[in-house]
Amino acid sequence: MRRETPDCVSVNFDVPPNLKPEYEFLPGQHLTLKKTIDGTEIRRSYSICSRPEQGELRVAIKQVAGGQFSIFANEKLGVGDELEVMTPMGNFTLETAPQNSKHYVAFAAGSGITPVISMLKTVLQEEPRSHFTLFYGNRNTESIIFRDEIEDLKNEYLTRLSVHHILSQEDLGADLFFGRIDKDKSQRFCTRLLDVLDVDAFYLCGPEPMIFAVKSTLLELGVDEKNIHFELFTTPGASAGILNKAWASKQGIGTSKITLTLDGNTFTYNHDQPSETILDAASKTVADMPFACKGGVCCTCKAKVLQGEVEMEVCYGLERDEVEAGYILTCQSHPKTETVVLSFDE
Ligand code: FES
Repeated sequence: MRRETPDCVSVNFDVPPNLKPEYEFLPGQHLTLKKTIDGTEIRRSYSICSRPEQGELRVAIKQVAGGQFSIFANEKLGVGDELEVMTPMGNFTLETAPQNSKHYVAFAAGSGITPVISMLKTVLQEEPRSHFTLFYGNRNTESIIFRDEIEDLKNEYLTRLSVHHILSQEDLGADLFFGRIDKDKSQRFCTRLLDVLDVDAFYLCGPEPMIFAVKSTLLELGVDEKNIHFELFTTPGASAGILNKAWASKQGIGTSKITLTLDGNTFTYNHDQPSETILDAASKTVADMPFACKGGVCCTCKAKVLQGEVEMEVCYGLERDEVEAGYILTCQSHPKTETVVLSFDE
């Protein structure tokens, strides 16, 4: 365990040798951790901050007000403790190839740096001709997670890594870097400091306002949407706002017969509360349904629709081609047809 800032700890897991292949990961992926605290099972997803070839499986956990798991991790978790850890997941990834000569740009805020630092270290180490530019927003210098590590990387890769810190509560004397990464700032960064059409891929990770400010700026400047990747922060159980289609106002179908396959077992039940998600309804019948964030981000609850139709409230975690192939996030899905057949095994 390592203290990264006064309110953020990073935790490295010692994976049993026989399980190592299952815990291989791509930079940007996350782990879901399970722990029973005060009699309640808590699941939280945290991005991996180590580099795949580094020989570590490390996540950073920032303490948030009222966050049961993050408080436990920051105040009680100790070396030698055991946690249940699901295998790495997530589509917010970057794949490297040694012959690449690319320019990657990331915008991160707060603990949004966690998947980004894994990507950044991987690119610098494994693509000797590629460049990485990081815009990183925080409250003040003290709250910058991985500050020393980033400084060391800047010194080691002087010509290939550019880092711009943006602080909201500490004025370092340059107006451009004082405040939050909002629409105005992102426009100024993208026109003054970058040639956005020359960038191969953008990675955005942070709260919703930052993601949508940067994304809309990039689209306005002509960046192809397929080159913009993002991962949103969300609090467990909360639906994010901007893309939320206000499901509650819609007329759901009365009762649907749901058949689902999970780990080779098939279950059938009636879904008769239209406002309830498929995940929540299924959890009444099926033990140990897979989920973590319940916010449409982590993809732990992903399934494929084999028959029938569903509608999702939000869908941040899936790529467009996955949606086209019939994949859904069951924590965000409501049945639209009288029969729906799903598989979690495909
Ligand atoms: S539980 Fe995270 S996307 Fe559904």
